[in-house]
Amino acid sequence: MASPLEWLGMSSITTSTTQTVQPARTVRGSVRLPGDKSISHRYAMLAGLAQGTSRLSNFSTGADPHSSLACMEALGATVVKRDDGVIEVTGVGGKFHQPTRDLDCGNSGSTMRMLAGLVASHPGTYTFVGDASLTKRPMQRIKGPLEQMGAPIDLTEGHAPMTVHGGPLKAIEFSTPIASAQVKTAVLFAGLGADGTTTLQEAVRTRDHSEHALRAFGVELERTKGAISIRGGQQLHAIDATVPGDLSSAAFFLCAALLFPDSQLVLDEVGMNPSRSALLDVLAGMGLQVKVLDLAEKHGEMVGTLQVNGPVEITGAEITGDLPALIIDELPVLAAIGPFTRNGVLIRNAKELRVKESDRIALVVQNLRAVGAVVEEFEDGLHVPGGQTLTGGVVDSADDHRIAMAFAIAGLRATGETTIHGAEAAAISFPEFFPLLRELSQG
Ligand code: S3P
Repeated sequence: MASPLEWLGMSSITTSTTQTVQPARTVRGSVRLPGDKSISHRYAMLAGLAQGTSRLSNFSTGADPHSSLACMEALGATVVKRDDGVIEVTGVGGKFHQPTRDLDCGNSGSTMRMLAGLVASHPGTYTFVGDASLTKRPMQRIKGPLEQMGAPIDLTEGHAPMTVHGGPLKAIEFSTPIASAQVKTAVLFAGLGADGTTTLQEAVRTRDHSEHALRAFGVELERTKGAISIRGGQQLHAIDATVPGDLSSAAFFLCAALLFPDSQLVLDEVGMNPSRSALLDVLAGMGLQVKVLDLAEKHGEMVGTLQVNGPVEITGAEITGDLPALIIDELPVLAAIGPFTRNGVLIRNAKELRVKESDRIALVVQNLRAVGAVVEEFEDGLHVPGGQTLTGGVVDSADDHRIAMAFAIAGLRATGETTIHGAEAAAISFPEFFPLLRELSQG
């Protein structure tokens, strides 16, 4: 299979591209968004391990989930991209092959952390590598529990390159010290191949796509108050599934809609998993008029159509306590539109933002200042006062997809032009972002 970026029609050596965003009058239109990144990763991995051929429709077009697919191929699965866009994954039937190459996770922390858990019970040596950003991200958080289960892991100063020495595992009882769905998933996926029942307690209840995906592939899980248990030795069976539209991609357009009183957007078949949808409450609290239509459940995931209209007034938001963990990927765009609110946007208890694809606190602060805003930085967050005018200017994505897209949205309400360096990073989760932005924004 081609590399993820080649697959998306881009060279594997991407050059930095610049996008320019002009001030807009409003945003309007109707779209169906590509599949959720988090769910696509999990379906790719579990389909790759399962018995039989899974057919995955509306799979994410982002480079990250395609890194997961490429890794599953290296582990012995067969991946076919059909002309109608459906991805067919024929799994290894419970036994991974010893890969003959490193497992290249590209920019994707989800691929590296979750797949490390999945391979840990399979005899063999698995070396995971990633790009410059991923090579700096903390991996100790999965080494701890996976070694406790019996899989030694070699890290390079706490980071990738990372080698997992797979073999027989024993079940553990584990409490996640940090709110991370990736760490939870690594432990659950390892528990799938462990001897006994693994039980996991979460400090904050993070996104539960892994639990739904495991059940969809035929695994029994037990949830008691605050804990999830998985019995080792269960077999997975292929599924036919449609991935719901990505709510984190929708977030950019929802924030755009919040910026204009007469905006009007309809987003079809978006994932509305309650462990992700706190975003909608935050946006409604800021003034966005949100309607959810045609709510249905597919493979445990809630899916619905979002119909939104602009606010009478953009109030502001205080995002503190447990809330940041629930909307961690949406914080950059919520901060970037902070200047246009009445009361500002305050984000605290979000230190995790510093170890994402970039230091997202530092980068949001730097770029907000570059487009003319006043902002205060804290170790665990930031405060963007409201009632400000942005002039526009030059921002740098530092190769972080969510930063590139966040500042494109803020640029819609600047008085001048916003130039975004490293705009190609958007393809990590949402390659269609800039064309769609042009289509939906009216000048
Ligand atoms: C993800 C969980 C989050 C999120 C990431 C996707 C997932 O990371 O930031 O984009 O799919 O489980 P953490 O679990 O590390 O917080």
